[in-house]
Amino acid sequence: MQRYHTPLDLVRSRPVEGPVACARPDRLTIAAHWFQDNFPGEVLYAVKANPSPWVIDALYAAGLRWFDAASLAEVELVAERCPDATIAFLHPVKSRHAIRRAYFDHGVRIFVLDCEAELEKILVETDHADDLTLIVRLAVSNDGAALPLAGKFGAGEAEAPDLIRAARAHAEALGVSFHVGSQCMAPNAYGAAMAEASRLIAKAGVTVDIVDVGGGFPAPYPGLTPPPLSDYIDAIERAFEGMMVLENADLWCEPGRALIAEAVSVLTRVELVKGEAVYLNDGAYGCLFDMVHAQWPFPIQVHRADGEASLQTAEFTLYGPTCDPIDTMPGRHALPADLAEGDVIEVGMLGAYGTAMATGFNGFGQVETCKVDDYPWMSLYSPAAPVPAPADAVIPAAAGDRILPFARAQRRRRARLMRKRG
Ligand SMILES: Cc1ncc(COP(=O)(O)O)c(C=O)c1O
Repeated sequence: MQRYHTPLDLVRSRPVEGPVACARPDRLTIAAHWFQDNFPGEVLYAVKANPSPWVIDALYAAGLRWFDAASLAEVELVAERCPDATIAFLHPVKSRHAIRRAYFDHGVRIFVLDCEAELEKILVETDHADDLTLIVRLAVSNDGAALPLAGKFGAGEAEAPDLIRAARAHAEALGVSFHVGSQCMAPNAYGAAMAEASRLIAKAGVTVDIVDVGGGFPAPYPGLTPPPLSDYIDAIERAFEGMMVLENADLWCEPGRALIAEAVSVLTRVELVKGEAVYLNDGAYGCLFDMVHAQWPFPIQVHRADGEASLQTAEFTLYGPTCDPIDTMPGRHALPADLAEGDVIEVGMLGAYGTAMATGFNGFGQVETCKVDDYPWMSLYSPAAPVPAPADAVIPAAAGDRILPFARAQRRRRARLMRKRG
């Protein structure tokens, strides 16, 4: 991976042809340490958020050894790069081939299910193994999420107790899991989901060894600044105390977005300015999928290879490179009034569901990755970035003052260490 001090250095030192993902592995390391130090259980990285090899390697180097895979390809990716990792196959619907290969070729023992038919597939394809950890995925409210995921997966009230009982009969270890929705803005959503899970476990009347609170931990976006991550940990710890599970039950989480979002920005080149229309070489079918899908105002700034862009701004509409009209970024964007072909737009906070979403539609989708050393615009992990935010970055006034209370995190970490030392 080529390395530059900042994205602007990159733009000034060479032509930017296709989109470039600017990777900040150090930011990922900080996030991984935070979760491992503060979450009172196992932290499984949700590979789907960003399966780039550098991401897997940086997490591994940061000490993370548990991974949530959604497909056989993700299982193979982690198994190849991290031979001693624990891989959990946490997609509720898996092909029989994928289950068999995961179990027999890659040592996967943890499988999720949300119905009897999937349980039957897992049992048959593992030749009725007696060393399975089975996780029953429950349907829970996604009301606190900026991007709800409810409706597609999860056993509901009617079927969950029977399913939990059925899985118990075949599991060496049994867990329940849920997903409160992506970019969950309400820490108490975890508490509510855990209370619901507890109720369903009590109805099933069996013991449960694992509570997996899933993903949904947020990242900061302009106008979408979540509470400190420590509030989420507090809510989960409080709710766990009250759950109907074994005294020594384990707690797991599967963060994707919160670990990787702030570690990557994407450079996309202006190919044409036609009045108020700006045509880019990345868009809805590429790394900017979430600009269109989630419709969040991602932070953007402009870099010019030679000279400075105008300080005066004008409103533009941004179009992606494909011929499909849905390849249009919603809303209007205030950009330098003299924006021109060859200028490079940097879109921040695109580490999660950014490069992972790029398709080859219309022949686009090749994304180069470079390493940069600057700080992201926003962070839930650092009290202050030593490099000031760029003047033209689109940051809401509130974004800078919602930071992790470090002293509290340190106290918590110290308390945990003391407990560990007995
Ligand atoms: C099963 C599962 N776990 C974890 C995640 C990661 O979620 P997030 O990126 O919101 O943390 C997802 C995302 O869709 C998921 O489906």
